Amino acid sequence: MSQNIRALSARRGRKQGLLFEALQEAAQATGTLSPVQLRALAEDSLISRASLLGTTSFYDFLAAGNLNKQAYVCNGTVCRLAGKQEAVRVRLETRFTNEQIGETTCLGHCYCGGAYRIGDQCFDAGSDPDSAPGAEAIPFHCHTSHSVFGDNGNEADALYRQIARTLSSTPVSLLNELSASGLRGRGGAGFPFAEKLAACRDAPVGQKYVVCNGDEGDPGAFSDRWLLEDRSQRVLAGMLASGLAINANTGFLYVRAEYPQAQRRVAEAIEAFEQTPAFAQTGFRFHLIRGAGAYICGEETALLNSIEGLRPEVRTRPPYPAQAGLFERPTLVSNVETFATLPWILEHGGAAFAALGTAASTGTKLVSLDRDFNHPGVHEVAMGTALEQVIYGYGGGFRTAVKAVQVGGPLGGVVPVKKIAVLSLDFESFAAAGFLLGHAGIVSIPQEFPMIDFLCHLFTFMAAESCGKCLPCRLGTEKGRHMLVAATVDDPVDRRAFDDLLETLELGSLCGLGSGLPLPVRNILDYFGTELADYFTLEAEHE
Ligand SMILES: Cc1cc2nc3c(=O)[nH]c(=O)nc-3n(C[C@H](O)[C@H](O)[C@H](O)COP(=O)(O)O)c2cc1C
Ligand code: SF4
Repeated sequence: MSQNIRALSARRGRKQGLLFEALQEAAQATGTLSPVQLRALAEDSLISRASLLGTTSFYDFLAAGNLNKQAYVCNGTVCRLAGKQEAVRVRLETRFTNEQIGETTCLGHCYCGGAYRIGDQCFDAGSDPDSAPGAEAIPFHCHTSHSVFGDNGNEADALYRQIARTLSSTPVSLLNELSASGLRGRGGAGFPFAEKLAACRDAPVGQKYVVCNGDEGDPGAFSDRWLLEDRSQRVLAGMLASGLAINANTGFLYVRAEYPQAQRRVAEAIEAFEQTPAFAQTGFRFHLIRGAGAYICGEETALLNSIEGLRPEVRTRPPYPAQAGLFERPTLVSNVETFATLPWILEHGGAAFAALGTAASTGTKLVSLDRDFNHPGVHEVAMGTALEQVIYGYGGGFRTAVKAVQVGGPLGGVVPVKKIAVLSLDFESFAAAGFLLGHAGIVSIPQEFPMIDFLCHLFTFMAAESCGKCLPCRLGTEKGRHMLVAATVDDPVDRRAFDDLLETLELGSLCGLGSGLPLPVRNILDYFGTELADYFTLEAEHE
């Protein structure tokens, strides 16, 4: 029955163009949609006004609160830890009224901190919007014998060669190379890429899609932004090769709203790609989708809903996207870094890629190091490299006293510095020690930053970004936030009730946002119990 309901709800009225793009266009003049615009679009799309309002109110850059906003202060984790937001806001107030200044999470400038945005230009703290053209380029460092992303790959020549190579491979040989490579998805979960590709290829013949997940919402991660801006052709080539392998003729590249420069670069890259005669022969088409500001759109099924113009709530699975994804069609959804890896694998062979990392975590990984490192930026390292080497060797160590690092975004583990020595940068090492590699953004938590404030930040972020579809997360993230904020005043958290809340989130949530939040929270409780003692009334039962 649920299949019929989805098929019915997938019947919408627009004759051409995507509803999501029409909503964004309508909001362009003032930052949000007027009741008149909503009514017109609802009629045109055969969707109720309430549903459409449910969609627009979900997004930071379409909701009523975005009315007339001209500038935004980044409130991502690193900018918060850097404590520069107030100064940035004061500076912006010399040019804008208070109502014209909003907040945004996160601009992906974590290698500097204190980022802000004016119109579609981003700036780092310290840069002057009157004289600087925008933020500086992201520093990139490579530390592997063979760099998978090292070459720019954006030159037309390299691009032509890549297309020719892709066209000369049959879908079967592409799949064989990808299987041999052992490539696992770089978006966080580490699912074997070749398996996903094979599932899409084996889905019944008909319209199929390739979707590149460029939502990179994790504060502290900016490696996808670097790839989208500086290696965009590689991402497109990876999508094209995948499309040929599964017999899909359309690729959607979803780039988050907080990355305006990446959107511009991708648009240029698509134009250049489409002008090459070799590409025209493939019959493949790219479509750039600009996000509108919602962390949950990084979750693959919410992302599909977003492209369809629906409220970006998480979908229940099954069916999986490979079976019924975008507009109910078989869809390959993968991360930017995953796709960007494919050209190197196709050029050098799957075995060469596998030889770069460990047996279970093959290849190289891009790691984002934040402003508290002596060498901040994007670092390419071989999977399996000791975390100590990444942090103190390649990263040059910290330039301030740090007590822990959060690896893998706000749902990633919080690793106290004493544990750095026991970890290596691969999926297995992190999982075995009770952490998570995720997308491998590394955020430093300074010694003097109170862990209770860090906990409040995590819950506040998740409560704001929960899609609201399932009760444990919808209520639990807000309840947890409330308990922690009250503890900072004079009402300590009942540890048993808090542990119950974490268990409910972990076991009862529909997706990784709710079920993943307990991991960093428990890491903090376990490793920083003494610092937090005054904020909790009871010891945990197991202690
Ligand atoms: C709350 C949440 C946020 C996510 N955000 C992202 C994201 O920003 N980018 C991404 O590629 N994957 C993200 N994912 C993972 C995707 O759901 C999906 O697993 C991934 O895009 C698949 O690509 P891969 O196999 O190449 O990793 C997120 C998952 C969850 C639960
Ligand atoms: S866990 Fe949270 S974000 Fe995920 S489906 Fe449930 S409410 Fe939505």
